[in-house]
Amino acid sequence: MTIRAAALAALFLLTSLPVAAEQVGARAKGGFPESFFIEKIPRAEAKATAEKLARAVIAARLIIFAYAGKFVDPKLGDKGFSGEVFESQWRAALEPEMIDATPNQKRLYEKLIWAGRQVMDNNQDRINTKGVGWKNFLPAKWEREMGQVLTAKTGIVIKQPGRAYRSPVNVPDDTERAAMEHYIKAGHDENKPLMSTAQWGKQTVYRHIEPIRLMPPCLPCHGKPKGELDMVNFEKDGLESGDLIGLMSVTIAVKD
Ligand code: HEC
Repeated sequence: MTIRAAALAALFLLTSLPVAAEQVGARAKGGFPESFFIEKIPRAEAKATAEKLARAVIAARLIIFAYAGKFVDPKLGDKGFSGEVFESQWRAALEPEMIDATPNQKRLYEKLIWAGRQVMDNNQDRINTKGVGWKNFLPAKWEREMGQVLTAKTGIVIKQPGRAYRSPVNVPDDTERAAMEHYIKAGHDENKPLMSTAQWGKQTVYRHIEPIRLMPPCLPCHGKPKGELDMVNFEKDGLESGDLIGLMSVTIAVKD
């Protein structure tokens, strides 16, 4: 092809392409994560309420984590961890928190427990499968699904953005990314929650963010060596006990 013909061909290609093509599959602009906030908390109660919700979810994660060994045992069928069993253990753990809870907080606890139980009931077939070791059930999966059920019901957002997230639901937003950078930079002893208010669309929201740090039992998947495949085929994060792995992030709509 002559240079002139090549130039003409290139020109033809360029002019036949749409101008400034929009990327397919990009995030839509504007909008906000939850457009209809059913639950709104008086501003004065927001801080304590978000803290209580975060603590309640952390307590549930620990209850589920205690069953981790049973979950992966291929010889066991019924693990004895029904939604009902989970709910009663969770309620027992929350009892001290209930004492000083306001009526608003009590109502939200009930919705949180309801959401958590739905997810546990929904996962029974998976948990109780016999003859399979890894069944893809762990605290982070419960929390992701519980958060989605709770958000659908209430508009409250509870999520756990990850430092190198496995589930795309756990992608951090800008505030959460900045929070992770803060906790990584500040080191293992910095665990104070970061609190802020923000505007989500037309709604003022209260945000509570705290670090989730690794413990020794987390390291087979999130530990070293970085890049080696873990038992579920994700690349390990290369982190150590005490390192930040993600965030507990709670967002509640407030009203004055
Ligand atoms: C068996 C491997 C395994 C172990 C052990 C493990 N995790 Fe994970 N972790 C995962 C997987 C898989 C996901 C994705 C869960 C999902 O959303 O389905 C995940 C997700 C997470 C997330 C959410 C961000 C993300 O990556 O999507 C956090 C936070 C987290 N894990 C923290 C921990 C902590 C803390 C421990 C120890 C208490 C732990 N993990 C133990 C495999 C593991």
